[in-house]
Amino acid sequence: MSCEVTGLTVDVAARRHVPARRIVDGVSLRVGDGERVGLVGPSGSGKSMVARSVVGILPPHLAVGGSVKLGGTEMVGAGDEVAADLRGRYVSMVFQNPGSALNPVRTVGQAISLPLVMHYDLEPGDVHDRVLRAMRSVELPERLTGAYPHQLSGGQRQRVAIAAALVTSPRLIIADEPTTALDAIVQREIVDLLVSLVDDLGASLLFITHDFSVLAHATTRCYVMDAGRVVEEGATQGILRRPRSSVARLLVRAANELSLHGEGPDGADMTGAGGTAGGATGGRGER
Ligand SMILES: Nc1ncnc2c1ncn2[C@@H]1O[C@H](COP(=O)(O)OP(=O)(O)O)[C@@H](O)[C@H]1O
Ligand SMILES: [Mg+2]
Repeated sequence: MSCEVTGLTVDVAARRHVPARRIVDGVSLRVGDGERVGLVGPSGSGKSMVARSVVGILPPHLAVGGSVKLGGTEMVGAGDEVAADLRGRYVSMVFQNPGSALNPVRTVGQAISLPLVMHYDLEPGDVHDRVLRAMRSVELPERLTGAYPHQLSGGQRQRVAIAAALVTSPRLIIADEPTTALDAIVQREIVDLLVSLVDDLGASLLFITHDFSVLAHATTRCYVMDAGRVVEEGATQGILRRPRSSVARLLVRAANELSLHGEGPDGADMTGAGGTAGGATGGRGER
């Protein structure tokens, strides 16, 4: 089991005039070895709080309860050192906004090498080789090694973030709305890239999104969250065809209405014409 979350709670303590609030309320989920699992829910349902609890990066004013096991290690109450040792080595995260996740004064090469340097005692030549390999794997040209984030497109920045997340060959990747800030064509490219890299590594993926059309391509099983709780779980395709909870029904309907390239969330052609829906998309939008 890559990740096992049981009865997770996240509480915001009471402050003056603001009562205490439970923002994650008894969430349980499992990600098996090599499995790609979705966590889907509307904005504000608590998805990011779950992700941050799993990797131990919640703000200090939030209190975590329950259990989070990564590999065999209990994260809740384990202390910063244990979490810091697992982060970037056993588990990596890819965030929604690659612009703010990347340090503006660090080059592409430095950003990708950082997790390697933090966790492994490697010769500089080795680090360099691994960085270049990681860049190739996300289809970034070598000439960008010395570039800074502001010199890159949104899609290229997310490729850098993915390379940095995968360069240490982690067992689990948590991607929190990794494509939400990108345009539709680039979204699809980044999702496909992430899925194939995760599969190549034999790693597991927890893919977080509000968008079922993305989820259908990236995951086989998913959990649906609403207001801090898991309200539905099952095979992604099954939930797409027959969503039971009202929130899953809303999200599936939204995905059907907004789906990219006229394609339904289950990959079905929804144009009715069977032609090239959404117009031909020459080339790659991010370049
Ligand atoms: N740092 C924080 N302090 C207190 N409450 C927060 C904080 N961050 C988010 N929240 C609240 O927690 C809830 C869940 O937020 P979040 O996990 O970010 O939702 P999602 O990722 O599903 O959009 C929201 O109601 C949000 O307002
Ligand atoms: Mg979020």
